[in-house]
Amino acid sequence: IPGPLPPAPAEQGLAGLRAAASACRACRLWEPATQTVFGEGPEDAEVMLIGEQPGDEEDLSGRPFVGPAGRLLDRALGELGLDRGAFYVTNAVKHFGFEQRGTRRLHRNPAAGERAACSVWLAAERMQVRPRRIVCLGAIAAEAVLGRGVRLQEERGRWFPAGDASVMLTAHPSFVLRAGPERAAAYRELVADLALLQAG
Ligand code: URA
Repeated sequence: IPGPLPPAPAEQGLAGLRAAASACRACRLWEPATQTVFGEGPEDAEVMLIGEQPGDEEDLSGRPFVGPAGRLLDRALGELGLDRGAFYVTNAVKHFGFEQRGTRRLHRNPAAGERAACSVWLAAERMQVRPRRIVCLGAIAAEAVLGRGVRLQEERGRWFPAGDASVMLTAHPSFVLRAGPERAAAYRELVADLALLQAG
């Protein structure tokens, strides 16, 4: 397997990074996937939201957080009067990883090597956008940003420093969707954490 592609020259901005990432072959995820799902949002966004990995709908559309998890995230942000369009939204891993079961493509968690291979793109997005605040949606995003294991339930819902940004961890919207009878409570907790974005 070839190594990660060198990020595009900074003067080409996010468009250059996106183009370079579209040809990334640094891990095996690219082959069965439809396309690279790069981040999107303003180049000068103050806030970056980071998820885990595109899902089925994201893989087909090429945009992050447009499937069920994205709709839940939009609802939570909307309740708080927060405009997702003002945020840069991306994922720790930029190709959908799945197991084929009949006609269904079931998400599988990205392996450590896949996460490591993709870390160059997240680092490049952070360098380009330079967000002041970063929200990690779920443990995989948190580990990608902090470079260590996290205990999400203990560490969520507060800001702490990471380099030149403040970072907050919260639940992944898919976790909320899978929370069964606890779903309403898990959603309220997600909204409560995201409310930390309201105070400038
Ligand atoms: N889940 C994620 O982590 N990211 C997406 O873009 C969609 C679902």
